[in-house]
Amino acid sequence: MSNVLLIGNGAREHVIAEAILRSRHNPVIFSYMKSNNPGIAALSEKILIGDYNDLKGIKKFSRDCNIDFAVIGPEDPLNNGVVDSLEEIDIPCVGPTKSLSLLETSKSFTRRLIQKYNIPGNPIFKIFSSMEGIDDFLGELEEIVIKPDGLTGGKGVRVQGDHFHTKDEALQYCREILEEHPYVIIDEKLEGEEFSLQCLCDGKTVIATPPVQDHKRRFIDDKGPNTGGMGSYSCEDHSLPFMNLDDVAEGLKITQKVAEAIHKETGEYYRGVMYGGFIITKDGVRLLEYNARFGDPEAMNILPLLKTDFIDICNAIIEGTLNNLNIEFEKKATVCKYIVPKGYGLPEDHPDAKSTSDKIEVDNVKDAKLYYSSVDNREDGLYMTTSRAIGVVGIAEDLEKAERIAERAVSSIKGSVDHRPDIGTKPLIEKRINHMKEIKEAGRVKKNAK
Ligand code: GLY
Repeated sequence: MSNVLLIGNGAREHVIAEAILRSRHNPVIFSYMKSNNPGIAALSEKILIGDYNDLKGIKKFSRDCNIDFAVIGPEDPLNNGVVDSLEEIDIPCVGPTKSLSLLETSKSFTRRLIQKYNIPGNPIFKIFSSMEGIDDFLGELEEIVIKPDGLTGGKGVRVQGDHFHTKDEALQYCREILEEHPYVIIDEKLEGEEFSLQCLCDGKTVIATPPVQDHKRRFIDDKGPNTGGMGSYSCEDHSLPFMNLDDVAEGLKITQKVAEAIHKETGEYYRGVMYGGFIITKDGVRLLEYNARFGDPEAMNILPLLKTDFIDICNAIIEGTLNNLNIEFEKKATVCKYIVPKGYGLPEDHPDAKSTSDKIEVDNVKDAKLYYSSVDNREDGLYMTTSRAIGVVGIAEDLEKAERIAERAVSSIKGSVDHRPDIGTKPLIEKRINHMKEIKEAGRVKKNAK
């Protein structure tokens, strides 16, 4: 039997909890959450609600519960050094130490590491600690992406053409970033299709899980502001319709080299999830960023398909024996759609903006899976709490059927809710395929013209 500490309170941690409980080792879950997620609570022996920076409280809870190991879901506790803290009391963790979480928390660390070890995958970029040289660099690139160096809850990245248009706006945003962060990173803007590759890593061996495509934009047809992710899909062949298995292999190769570089650079083994956000461009696969955790929603696409015992995977990550494990996933397609409050992501003056904490009712969702995120289970029912509320997942032998299962379940959730009906549908998938074709064709024309 294993006593597992699970840290986190989102749908990602709900699906992790489910994967833990499928183990043949009869594990028991003790959950530390920032707010009470009823889905996780129902699967836990005991819960404690507290802040992710209360390392003393997390240690005490772990001691009291005789924890054997911990699985850390979100980035905030990693950034606060929860793994270092738990290791002080001999509790091993699936999740990197604070210094290795820099992979996610410091984009300058990751870009420099990749550059230093000659790993392919970086776009053209420069890192600035002051405004000196920024103006000149902007003149060298056609279009840019500006990123602060630090955690910003997914809201810090600004893309030319989407979030700003002129050089003056770019310079102003760089100035604002440097008031709060040590560095600003300026990347060339890359055109292509994105995929998430969540890799399991014990520091020496890196194993890819099936690639997933997330949908960050709030509204149908990729319109509106960026969100934490409105939904995602994965395919039964463990590739995606706009890519081939070589692209997956390229993402994995980059991640293997990065894991090796981390060890050479720091002497430490990275134990946890290395989730690469990649983009396929006309010139091949490029890295947008790494996260030091599973993706949310992407964890909901891959963990329900996991055939290998999740506790065996956690133990192998901790003991450095991932190379001995044959990790398998069902050959099925998945579609995840997030149910959000109607007002999610809307400007404050929008008529729907206030409907973010309303009551919802969940009827029979039949064969779909539900993972709770920002919801509050009160005496009189289930309420949303301003952010993404419930991840609804359809799983089937192909994408069309998985999408239908998810969509049917979505319609049985009543209240002032919204979702993206286009995720996983044929027209949107075809748009992705055609976009990729256009990008590759433009690349060929450019090469031939040289
Ligand atoms: N899907 C985006 C993230 O997990 O950061």
